[in-house]
Amino acid sequence: MLTGATGGLGRAIAEALAARGAKLILSARKADALEQMAAELPGEGHRAIPCDLGRPGAAEELAAEAGEVDILLANAGLPGSGRLPEFSSEQLVKALRVNLESPILLARALEPQMLERGSGHMVFISSLSGKSATPLSSVYNATKFGLRGFALGLRADLDRLGIGVSLVSPGTIREAGMYADTGADPIPGLGTSSPKEVADAVVKAIQRNKVEIAVAPIQQRFLAHFALASPAVSVKVASGDSGQKAASNVANGQLDKR
Ligand SMILES: NC(=O)c1ccc[n+]([C@@H]2O[C@H](COP(=O)([O-])OP(=O)(O)OC[C@H]3O[C@@H](n4cnc5c(N)ncnc54)[C@H](OP(=O)(O)O)[C@@H]3O)[C@@H](O)[C@H]2O)c1
Repeated sequence: MLTGATGGLGRAIAEALAARGAKLILSARKADALEQMAAELPGEGHRAIPCDLGRPGAAEELAAEAGEVDILLANAGLPGSGRLPEFSSEQLVKALRVNLESPILLARALEPQMLERGSGHMVFISSLSGKSATPLSSVYNATKFGLRGFALGLRADLDRLGIGVSLVSPGTIREAGMYADTGADPIPGLGTSSPKEVADAVVKAIQRNKVEIAVAPIQQRFLAHFALASPAVSVKVASGDSGQKAASNVANGQLDKR
């Protein structure tokens, strides 16, 4: 079951898994786009379940309607960018619910059936923003740091019980998705990755039960690890003039996804 199936990364993940014979349950809000994807993906038996994960109770309803799920791909996400006071209460709750609460609720709903079968895998699409904080991203950082902590803790609980739990953490992704949709120029020298690289990482995470795969050029991965080790220095550097300008270009291009 793939959430956020209609998005830039969701489509790439769906194609990679369908090409390997997976029977997909595709979810997002756009019902027509989901039905079209289900019909056009390679293989047979794909299903579309439209669902607004910003609504209370929606994650539990999605899990119940899905029935038997071998692999959860918690991918749906909102950019959650901008200064905190600019968020309405509804926007704030929605970002927290879609990015963090829903993956946790889906995992809780699906864990018992996986334990009963003695097999299953959960992949959480986090971000390098789950390791490294940047300007105009406090809400997004909160959800992705939280998702990373949740997935690692869940893995500690489920590893010995035969259920895989993985994090896939993309950096800046070109061509499609919430960053590319802004039209902002990537930060010079830091490079980008493609949606296909994210999809390949998802496949690898499942096949090899990887704890975490960062999908980003080495410069971005180094900065994210540095940020974990030295948050004070990292935040100081990231919040300088050029960091503020880059973040502002991205956040302005994501207002329609708040
Ligand atoms: N693109 C990047 O550079 C990048 C980098 C790091 C991490 N990520 C992470 O990768 C994941 C996918 O992002 P993306 O780049 O593919 O973004 P995207 O193109 O904006 O797609 C977001 C997906 O989430 C779904 N979604 C949004 N609000 C929803 C809601 N209320 N209920 C249910 N589904 C909802 C959207 O579908 P509908 O609009 O049809 O509902 C869409 O399928 C996210 O978790 C994101 O944080 C992306």
